[in-house]
Amino acid sequence: MRLSARIKYENNVFIDCHREIFSVRGVNLSLLGLKVKDKALSVCDHEDVVVIIELEEDVSLRGKITRFREDEFVITFNEDPDLIASTVGKYLTSKIYKSGVCPFCSKKIEEGERYCRRCGMFFDYTKPEVVRFIQEFKVGKIFYDLLVEHPEEIEEKLEDRKEFIGVSNGIKKVFDLIRKYATNDYPVLIVGETGTGKELTARAIHERSKRADKPFVVVNCAAIPENLLESELFGYEKGAFTDAHRRKIGRIEFANGGTLFLDEIGDMPVSMQAKLLRFLEDYTFTRVGGNETLHANVRIIAATNVNLEEAVKKGKFREDLYYRLNVLTINIPPLRERKEDIMVLAKYFLNRYAKETGKDIKGFTPEAEEALLNYSWPGNVRELINVIRKAVVLTENTYISEKELNLRREDVDTAYCLNGHSLNLKENIEKVERELVRRAFLKTGGNITKMAKLLGISRPKVYTLIEKHRIGEVSG
Ligand SMILES: Nc1ncnc2c1ncn2[C@@H]1O[C@H](COP(=O)(O)OP(=O)(O)OP(=O)(O)O)[C@@H](O)[C@H]1O
Ligand SMILES: [Mg+2]
Repeated sequence: MRLSARIKYENNVFIDCHREIFSVRGVNLSLLGLKVKDKALSVCDHEDVVVIIELEEDVSLRGKITRFREDEFVITFNEDPDLIASTVGKYLTSKIYKSGVCPFCSKKIEEGERYCRRCGMFFDYTKPEVVRFIQEFKVGKIFYDLLVEHPEEIEEKLEDRKEFIGVSNGIKKVFDLIRKYATNDYPVLIVGETGTGKELTARAIHERSKRADKPFVVVNCAAIPENLLESELFGYEKGAFTDAHRRKIGRIEFANGGTLFLDEIGDMPVSMQAKLLRFLEDYTFTRVGGNETLHANVRIIAATNVNLEEAVKKGKFREDLYYRLNVLTINIPPLRERKEDIMVLAKYFLNRYAKETGKDIKGFTPEAEEALLNYSWPGNVRELINVIRKAVVLTENTYISEKELNLRREDVDTAYCLNGHSLNLKENIEKVERELVRRAFLKTGGNITKMAKLLGISRPKVYTLIEKHRIGEVSG
C-alpha cells in the first residue's frame, strides 16, 4: 500500500509514451505518482512513460502507467528519490505549508514543522531519505520508525530522557516485575492498551539486565509488510530475490547478545508466527535464500495491545507460540485504573515542558486537576503527555486551566460528527463515514489491510472511501 499526502493537480500534463505525446488532464499528485484523466491513454496501459509536469518549472519524470478507472490512469514514478524530493517533494511540501493544516488530521501547522505534532504524520518531503522511506515502507505515516532511522531529521526529540514514573500499586507491581524479570533470559510478554508504557517497560528490563550494553532492537510487527517481515527478522543472502544485490543482516542477528523487542506481536501474520516459533525452539535460523544454520543469543520481549488469548481462540494467533512467549507476563493497567499516577505524571511533564519552553508555570487550577482525574485517557500516558505539552505551549497563565487542557474531545463524538443541526440523514451519514475512515487511517498509518479490518469492510472498499473523502489530501 502506498500513501503519502497528495494534492489536487488539475493542470494539463504531457505524457511521452514511446514517442507519442499525449496532453492530458491531471487529477492529483503525490510523491509516488500522478493521477490523470483521458480515455486515449488506454493504449499506454502498463507501459513505461515519461511525464512532463509543470511545478515551479517543467519537470520530466519516468514512471509506469496503469489504469485506475475507466478513463483515469495512475503514473507510478520510478525515479530516484533525490529527483522526487527536489521536484514533487518540494512542491508538495510548499503546498502543505501554504495550506496551514496537516493534510492527515487537519491540525494547524507552522511553516518548517517537519511532522505533525498531533498525528505524527511526516510532511517534509524535500529530503531524499524521507522519499526513500515512503517508497520502501509504502505508508504515508512515517512515525516513530523514521525518528529512529533518521534522528537527524528531528531536531526536537519528543521522547528523550525517559524516566519511568508512577506511585500506584498497579505501576509498583510493574516495577517489581521489571526488576525480577531482568535477572533471567526467559521471554517476556507485555500486555497493555496503547500508550501505557509497554516499550518503556521493555527497555527498562533490558537496561537492568546483563545484556544492557548490547543492542535493544525493536521490530514493529504491525508496521512491516508481511512479505518483508521474514527478511527483516532473519536477513537475506545475496540473490535471494530480485532486489537482493547484497547480503543483509536481519534484526535477530543484529540483536545478538542483546534484546529483541517484538512490538504488536498480535499483528504478526500466522505464516511468520510459525517461523518465529521454529526460531524459539533452539534460537537457530537461516537467512532467507541461505542454507547456513546460524545461532543468535537474544532475549525476546514481546508486546501486544490485543488480547492474545482471544486471538488464539479465533485462530489468529498460534496457541503454541502464545504459550512459549507467555512464560513471564507483565500487565500494565490503563491510566484510568491507576488514578494515583495521573497527577504525578501530569506535574512531572508540566515541569519538564515549562522548563523547556522557559515559562513560569506553577501548576494546574483545581478545576483542571479534577478534569485530569476524571478523564478516561483512551490514549493513556502518551495522550496525557500530549495534552500537557500542548497546554504548556499555549498558556500564558501561571496555572493551567481546565479550558486550556481541552479535554473531552472524544466524549463529544456524536455531536462532533453530526452536521450542525441538520437532520438530513444522507449528509450526516456521509460525515460520520468520513470521520470513521479518517480515524482508521490515522490509527493504522494508512495500512489498507488494517483499515479494512477496523472498519469491517473489504480492501477495495477502503480504497474507494479514501478516494471519495480525499483522506490525506492537501486542502486549500
Ligand atoms: N509511567 C510512565 N512514566 C513516564 N513516561 C511514561 C510512562 N508510561 C509511558 N510513558 C511515556 O508515554 C509514551 C508512550 O509509552 P510507550 O511507547 O512505552 O507505550 P506503548 O504501550 O508501547 O504504546 P503503543 O501501544 O501505542 O505502542 C512514551 O513517551 C513513554 O516514555
Ligand atoms: Mg509501543
